Amino acid sequence: MDKIVIEGGVALKGEVSVSGAKNAALPILAATLLAPGIHYLSNVPPLADIRTMKKVLELMGVKFQEGEPLVVDTSHLTGWMAPYEVVKTMRAAVLVLGPLVARVHQASVSLPGGCAIGARPIDLHLKGLEAMGVKITLNQGYVEAKVKELRGAEIILDFPTVTGTENLLMAATLAKGTTRIVNAAQEPEVADLARFLTVLGAKIQGIGTDVLTIEGVNALKPAPYQIMPDRIEAGTYLAAAAITRGEVRIVNAPVQHLTAVLEKFHEAGVQFTTKDNLIAVKPGGSLVGVDVKTLPYPGFPTDMQAQFMALMSVAKGASVITETIFEDRFIHVSELRRLGADISVSGNQAVVRGRRYLMGAPVMATDLRASASLVIAGLAARGVTEVHRVYHLDRGYANLTEKLEALGARIKRVPA
Ligand code: EPU
Repeated sequence: MDKIVIEGGVALKGEVSVSGAKNAALPILAATLLAPGIHYLSNVPPLADIRTMKKVLELMGVKFQEGEPLVVDTSHLTGWMAPYEVVKTMRAAVLVLGPLVARVHQASVSLPGGCAIGARPIDLHLKGLEAMGVKITLNQGYVEAKVKELRGAEIILDFPTVTGTENLLMAATLAKGTTRIVNAAQEPEVADLARFLTVLGAKIQGIGTDVLTIEGVNALKPAPYQIMPDRIEAGTYLAAAAITRGEVRIVNAPVQHLTAVLEKFHEAGVQFTTKDNLIAVKPGGSLVGVDVKTLPYPGFPTDMQAQFMALMSVAKGASVITETIFEDRFIHVSELRRLGADISVSGNQAVVRGRRYLMGAPVMATDLRASASLVIAGLAARGVTEVHRVYHLDRGYANLTEKLEALGARIKRVPA
C-alpha cells in the first residue's frame, strides 16, 4: 500500500486542469444500462471508483473498450446482481438498481452497510421505486427488486438525496406514464445525468431544479456524451493553492457550479478571479476564519468541508464549521490535530482556531475528502507529512500526486 510524502512550505505555481466529475461519471455509466447498444463517453476520469463501477457493469455483461472516448457496449445483459464484495467498497454501486429494474425488470443489489462518514441508508431510493410499482424484499443482505411494469408516480423525497434522485430518475425514463420527483437533489451531477438521459431520448423537464418531471418513453438509444468537469476537484486545488499562498490557474473548472464555494473562499480572504472555465488564484491578502455550513446544492457542499477546514486551520481567527449532510464527517479532525491544528468538535459543529503554521506528521484517513484535506494541510505544514491509505485518494482524484508535482509541490508517492 502506497503513502504520499509531502515536504510542506512550497507556494504552488502553474496551471492545473480539472478532470471529469466522478459523481457524474458514476451514474452516467450506470445509465448506459438503460439503452442497449454502443455508447461513447468522453472525459471519464481515471479513478478507482470508476474502475469499480466498470467491474459491476461487467458482471452484468457490459463490455468496455478503454480509450478516449470510453466505449461501453450494453447490447446484451447477462446479469442483474451487484454483489456485496463490490458494494461494500463503493456505495455508488447501488446506482445500478434504477436502470436494472427499468431494463430487465429485476435487480439484486447488496444493501450498503455503514461507511466511514455515517450510516447512509437507501430507504428513500427503495420507497420511490415501490411507488413506481417495484416489489422490494430483503434477502440475506440483498435488496431484491422485481417489477412487471414500471409505472410513473408522484414521489416526494423526505431529503434531496443525490444518488436516490438519480436512481429514481433513471427508472422513470422507461416507466409507463409520468413521474414527478419533488424535493429532488439539484446537484450539477444530477443535472449532468439528466442531460445524458435526454440525449438518449428521455423526456425530462425541470433539469437542475428540485422538481423533475419525467415522461416515460418506450426505449432509449445510445448517443455520445461528454462528462462535466469535477467541481470538487476544482475546489480542492483552490484550497491547495490558497493554503500555500500560491499562484495557480485552475483550468477546465465548472465555475458556474462553484458559487457557494467561491463565495466562502472570497470571504476568507483568498485572492482569485474567474473567467469562463478558469479560476486564477493569486497570492497575497491574509486568510481569515469564516463560518461554513454544509447544505444540499446550491449550498456549500459537504464534499468540500474537510478541505475548507484544512484552510481554516491556518486562518486568522476562528471558524465554525457545521456539517448537516452526514452525521459523522469529522474523521479528519483528529488527524488535522496531529499536524497541530486547533479544532474542537461538539456534535455536528467544529470550531477551528487558526494557527500561524502547521507541523508535518504521519497521518491517515478513512475517507476520500478527509484524505484530501490532509494533503492540503501537508502542503502548508512545516516539515514532512506522510499521508497513509492513499487508495482513498485514488478513488476520487485523478493523478493527484502528478498534478501537485507539476505545480511545484515537493510530493511523492512511495510504497508504505
Ligand atoms: N439518506 C437517507 N436515506 C436515503 C438516502 C440518503 O437517509 O435513502 C441520507 C444519508 O444518510 C445522508 C444524506 O441523506 O445523511 C445525504 O445522502 P445522499 O443520498 O445525498 O448522498 P449519496 O447520494 O449517498 C452523494 C455523493 C457523495 C456526496 C453526497 C452529498 C455520489 C456517488 N456520491 O452521495 O459523494 O457527499 O451525495 O452531496 O454522488 C464523495 O464524492 O466523496 C462523496 C461522498
